[in-house]
Amino acid sequence: MALSHGTSASSAPGLDLFEGTPYRTIQRLRAGGMGEVFLVEHRTTGRRVVAKLIHAKLAADPALVERLRIEAQSAAQLDHEYVVKILAFEQTRTGRPFLVMEYLEGRTLAEEIMARGPLPVLEAVSFSCHLLSALTAVHEKGLVHRDIKPDNLFVCPSSDGTRCLKLLDFGVVRVMPGSHAVDPLPHDFRTRTGVVVGTPRFVSPEGAMGQPVDPRGDLYAVGLCLYIMLVGRGPFDHFDGEQMLLTAHATEDPEAPSRLSQTPIPPELDRALLKALAKNPEDRFQTAEEFQHHLEQVEVSLRRPSGWLETTAFHAGDVAPLQPAVTLTAPQPTVETRALPSPVVSPLRPSTPASDSPVPPAIEPSLAPIPATADRTRLRLSPLVAAIVFTIALVIAGLAALGLVTVLRGSP
Ligand SMILES: Nc1ncnc2c1ncn2[C@@H]1O[C@H](COP(=O)(O)OP(=O)(O)O)[C@@H](O)[C@H]1O
Ligand SMILES: [Mg+2]
Repeated sequence: MALSHGTSASSAPGLDLFEGTPYRTIQRLRAGGMGEVFLVEHRTTGRRVVAKLIHAKLAADPALVERLRIEAQSAAQLDHEYVVKILAFEQTRTGRPFLVMEYLEGRTLAEEIMARGPLPVLEAVSFSCHLLSALTAVHEKGLVHRDIKPDNLFVCPSSDGTRCLKLLDFGVVRVMPGSHAVDPLPHDFRTRTGVVVGTPRFVSPEGAMGQPVDPRGDLYAVGLCLYIMLVGRGPFDHFDGEQMLLTAHATEDPEAPSRLSQTPIPPELDRALLKALAKNPEDRFQTAEEFQHHLEQVEVSLRRPSGWLETTAFHAGDVAPLQPAVTLTAPQPTVETRALPSPVVSPLRPSTPASDSPVPPAIEPSLAPIPATADRTRLRLSPLVAAIVFTIALVIAGLAALGLVTVLRGSP
């Protein structure tokens, strides 16, 4: 964690917010809409941990306190190498609840991409496998995270000296019916329809329409994160404003990442990503395990001697230039916002006729045919460019003919 963002911790000079608790403040790391994140030290053991504390003005709202309890309990259920470890749930002397978790050193995936740009294919695939392995454990507990995004993923050193991705922030977790992860069960845990929970840039098509999101909604968001790792921006980041973003997730087909990436992306990875980003959850990978297995196969084929990376003849000029990256400077806030009307009438594309599918008509599977490897290296000319080239050629030919006639006339 880059501590440079931190500020002095206490709200009143000389008064430690954590006075009367087992912790003392070292530094404030982040301040968000709902609360603040502090680096603190255990008074007795000296161990440095992180405390996530609700804002003073929100601590009186029982719904928010309940949210933090659910976050603490559900994340504490997961003893997984790729999920941040929750250590305790406490209260300050003034009654502000906070959860205590292990301190992760490193930076968020959003910060990583901002600093380095798109990541190498193998690194992006292996980070996605970590995330999917974490989500397998999350989903097995009957939980849906609902806020998978680069701001909630932490890149940190792992025990074997490599780097890994850890999942944070169970602040809007959904507890599925029948789950025993949270006790007592939240009393108003019916899924409210018509409300989008999460972050508009990372919401699934069904989430954008205010429908309940199941684990496949998380897998859609993993697809978005992998897309961003490879391309530097999400497939719909050029849409501006919450409602446009929601409409794009619900109705627009994403462009194959290989068309936007500056580095070559193997066709099977292109296909896997478009499958993960399918509009209809039935057309996506059905479990995190299935998605991970698929990516591991891609990883194996990439690592094979004379694998795809070595055999693909790649010419930078053959691929469309990278779209202007959407800056990831400000963390994307998690919001509850109004869902799109269902069925969505896209301002961008007419909706298709009704079908038997349980998904509204405007939502179609987005599995577009991916060009074969050979096609990737073919120069693509748009009709406009072709017309200009043809006109220039005609003018040159005309001038040449005119010159020839003039020369012939002038010659004795
Ligand atoms: N355990 C941790 N170790 C280091 N940094 C953390 C930790 N938990 C959170 N952070 C930092 O605080 C930010 C906000 O935490 P998060 O749990 O996502 O809260 P919010 O609900 O405000 O989004 C994260 O993006 C990360 O930068
Ligand atoms: Mg967060």
